[in-house]
Amino acid sequence: MTDGPILNTTLSSLVLVVDDEPANIVLVAGILCRHGFDNVKGITHADLVVDEVLQTKPDIVLLDMHMPGTDGMTLLRQIRIITAEQSFLPVIVLTADTSTQLRLDALEAGATDFITKPFDATEVALRVRNCIGQRELHQKLRAHNAILDAKVRERTAELRRSHEEITQAYADTLKMLHLISEYRDDETHGHTLRVGYASGLLALEAGMDDRYVDTIRQAAPLHDIGKVGVPDIILLKPGPLTEEEFAAIKDHPATGASILVQGRSDILKMAHTVALTHHERWDGTGYPKGIRSEQIPVEGRMVTITDVFDALTHARPYKPAWSVDRTVEKMVDGRAKYFDPDLLDLFLESVIGKLGDNTPLNPG
Ligand SMILES: [Fe+2]
Ligand SMILES: [Fe+2]
Repeated sequence: MTDGPILNTTLSSLVLVVDDEPANIVLVAGILCRHGFDNVKGITHADLVVDEVLQTKPDIVLLDMHMPGTDGMTLLRQIRIITAEQSFLPVIVLTADTSTQLRLDALEAGATDFITKPFDATEVALRVRNCIGQRELHQKLRAHNAILDAKVRERTAELRRSHEEITQAYADTLKMLHLISEYRDDETHGHTLRVGYASGLLALEAGMDDRYVDTIRQAAPLHDIGKVGVPDIILLKPGPLTEEEFAAIKDHPATGASILVQGRSDILKMAHTVALTHHERWDGTGYPKGIRSEQIPVEGRMVTITDVFDALTHARPYKPAWSVDRTVEKMVDGRAKYFDPDLLDLFLESVIGKLGDNTPLNPG
């Protein structure tokens, strides 16, 4: 082995040598100097080491184990505590004690390596070089991780932005569909939203979970979207309809379902069911399929109730608004004929009173 310089990548690394014997510091510094290290600092007072490490931030510490005052093992633990948040700081223990117990204790306290006294010059230089190499690897890894973290944060923010954009676009599109679905038969554009709101309340009272409640609240407003296929002359006719005209109106559940069947989201899937089944009746006399009782999906049975209640309590081209009392009386007549009896009871007992200002009832 040569005793000359053996490395050139770490010449500027600050080496802190801690030993109460000044002669040992001179010896180690001399060895390191001959091997290319020109930034070696010595310290003989153990009590000054912590401050020194904090202030000068050395790249490596060579630490004597047996010193008066604070002993090496305690110092080692203190160094590990104060540098825990920083890049890895190697600490090489200098000792004449070769016992296994001391080595185990030192490793447990955070020692990186050992150099046994008396010093072998080449061993000192090689172990210092190796430890500084480890530190450089740690620093590179840390820098690389910081870059990765920044990229992950940036990408997460981008994904969040595009998710928000898609969510907003979906909400906007639903709102426009709501407007389209009542554009021609409700000048106040309130019926669809009131039916959505009341259906959400009814679902909640029926014990449905939050996701179901939110889905029906957004799906129910689309129940009449099929009316876009009914000519204005029929839809806006103020008087009673002929049989033919009524047949044209009765097409709207199927028309709505044929539009909404394209949907893949939970809201549009439920809207499809509601559009298709909101004119079915509990006793099987409804349309378009004439299905009865629990054959009718529960969301369809709920919207049948909220739709009729809202339609009766508000003015339409063919009728004035009814009072809530008159509407309730009429709906009770239809219990177990038009309406699911249990859901109707729940609606009358627990929902009507909660509609409040969000669903202006406009009783006549
Ligand atoms: Fe309808
Ligand atoms: Fe309706």
